[in-house]
Amino acid sequence: MTVAKRPIIHILGLGSMGTVLAVDLIRFTNALVIPLFRSKEKLDKFQIEGHSKISIRKLYEEKKPLVECKVEEAQCPETFNSGIIENLVITTKTYQTKEALAPYLKYINSHTNLILIQNGLGVLEVLKDEVFVNKSERPQLFQGVISHGVYQESGFTYAHAGWAGMKVARLPWNDDEMIQTNSLVKRDYAENELVNLLMSQTFAKEFGMEHMSYQEMLLGQLFKFLVNCCMNPVTAIVDCVNGEMVDYCAPVFRSIIDECLTVLRVAYKPLFAYENQYKGNEDYVSLTVDSILNTEHMVKEVIRIGCDINERNSSSMRQDTLYLRDTEIDYINGYVVDLAKKYEMGAAAANVNKTISELVNLRLGLNRTRAQQGDWRQQ
Ligand SMILES: NC(=O)c1ccc[n+]([C@@H]2O[C@H](COP(=O)([O-])OP(=O)(O)OC[C@H]3O[C@@H](n4cnc5c(N)ncnc54)[C@H](OP(=O)(O)O)[C@@H]3O)[C@@H](O)[C@H]2O)c1
Repeated sequence: MTVAKRPIIHILGLGSMGTVLAVDLIRFTNALVIPLFRSKEKLDKFQIEGHSKISIRKLYEEKKPLVECKVEEAQCPETFNSGIIENLVITTKTYQTKEALAPYLKYINSHTNLILIQNGLGVLEVLKDEVFVNKSERPQLFQGVISHGVYQESGFTYAHAGWAGMKVARLPWNDDEMIQTNSLVKRDYAENELVNLLMSQTFAKEFGMEHMSYQEMLLGQLFKFLVNCCMNPVTAIVDCVNGEMVDYCAPVFRSIIDECLTVLRVAYKPLFAYENQYKGNEDYVSLTVDSILNTEHMVKEVIRIGCDINERNSSSMRQDTLYLRDTEIDYINGYVVDLAKKYEMGAAAANVNKTISELVNLRLGLNRTRAQQGDWRQQ
């Protein structure tokens, strides 16, 4: 009888997303979960001051229970000397990915499963063009689109504010592999260690995991991307809570969404052509793309989800500008600007998103200057 091997999963970015995932992986799977810290100083802080414990407060449950877990092993670039990494979860902010990966590149090869669990788009392009340039050494790539809402309470304790699940799919390295067959999805489900782990029964139920084809996930990812392209920068620029702008935001959302969709239709052509091309084909999932990714429908959806359902929320980008942290704007509206350039769509093709990105940077700069030099409006 062969004894089943214990899966090992490294987590790069033990913040809100990394912790909520790590806690459930520790509780509901037999995997060895190893967080990777940025420095020896951070690792010591975690092990000595934090006693190697991570906690999640489940705000969505009646008594808001605190779930605490002990982490068996943790590493940082100075201590890491294992062999090839089998499974690597990236839960840093998008703009931190390249730098965070750098110390571990020699431990990643074509057998490594690497999953990006981040908002926004554009990290794939960074990995392709700047990190894994040698095609034969590229890892098996996956994307997780996470809808759980989590924020830091203190230290290594995080508050899980909203339970909403996570979608996972194999992320193709090349545009011509954007459309996946059901057979490929089934093969990953049966054979890939990372997919097996994430889809193991108890964990998948507790975390709300769904495994699907890339095109199916991409539809959800672009939907979420458009919500983020509107809610994040606009709330940050005008400094408001989501619901406050409900009666006034439709025109600016329409301008943003219309331009985003014009650019995304070029960059993700196979998805927008999918409905007609694959309808009725048994080895391909059936998808409705056009009735979802169109400007009028999306304006209504962004207002419904962003300003009505989450009316009391303060967006993550607004929080970043208020707390003077870098934002993910380059991977949200800025990504649309990059795509318009890449596909040579003309100088004005992404002017709305360019201006929106510039205004977010202006807001952050202004908040930083006011924090250092005082607010001229009060003088
Ligand atoms: N929070 C949410 O509710 C939510 C929901 C959906 C999607 N997302 C997306 O998920 C992604 C992660 O967001 P988050 O909220 O989890 O961010 P976060 O709380 O800031 O976590 C990022 C973590 O990455 C770590 N990190 C940064 N650089 C590193 C490096 N070089 N080496 C090792 N660790 C490093 C940070 O550690 P340091 O403290 O050392 O910098 C931090 O612990 C983002 O793309 C976000 O948009 C978040």
